Amino acid sequence: MPFLDLLTRLPKSRRNITARATAKTPELVARSMQFGFDYFDGSREHGYGGYRYDGRWVPVAADIVAHYGLKAGQRVLDVGCAKGFLVKDLLRACPGLEVIGLDISHYALTHAEAEAAGRLVRGSCDALPFSDGGFDLVIGLDVIHNLDRAGVVRALREFNRVGNGRSYIRVDSYHTPEQQALFADWVLTAKFHDYPQGWEAVFAEAGFRGDWTWTIIAA
Ligand SMILES: C[S@@+](CC[C@H](N)C(=O)[O-])C[C@H]1O[C@@H](n2cnc3c(N)ncnc32)[C@H](O)[C@@H]1O
Repeated sequence: MPFLDLLTRLPKSRRNITARATAKTPELVARSMQFGFDYFDGSREHGYGGYRYDGRWVPVAADIVAHYGLKAGQRVLDVGCAKGFLVKDLLRACPGLEVIGLDISHYALTHAEAEAAGRLVRGSCDALPFSDGGFDLVIGLDVIHNLDRAGVVRALREFNRVGNGRSYIRVDSYHTPEQQALFADWVLTAKFHDYPQGWEAVFAEAGFRGDWTWTIIAA
């Protein structure tokens, strides 16, 4: 269960942190946390500012398949799959792989990529509607930190349970007070975030057996 960066080939997000911080109000945050139109396809102040497929996950999917040695017939779950971009690209990277996506957002699931049709399930990352050991790998990129600390622990245990300990997550973190301040200006939906040490304490508490990397906002 090491730190593992499989997202090196993902393009960096463009962020106008000052604009986000200036626009942020409790009402705006509440709208974003509904994970509906505003969060995905509304203004950048609310979230993505237009969450559209552009192929950015193609190399990441290839790197995930290669690292975990995924093969046709194996099963992968993408938790927090949104519109199914990674689901689609994993299917292309490894024909015959059985890929399922799960997300809490009705909006995202009903505006998903056609290739993901029939593979997407609505649910929450802390109560996965799947049997023990039902997947060969469980992925969760930028999703579990949307729960509070207790919810994060539940989610990590769920990842262990359905993935037999084989999972890969990315969560919000920072290495310095400066990065923490940038994060505070930028964050909309994350309820739990911490320095790597704090996350590692949560991983230990949950008995998390997967691999992880950080989303870190740097100037
Ligand atoms: C920052 S987006 C990440 C989407 C995708 N994994 C990516 O990296 O592009 C967070 C996603 O988590 C979903 N989400 C938020 N809370 C969730 C929960 N409790 N369970 C499952 N999905 C959740 C949101 O709807 C959204 O699609």
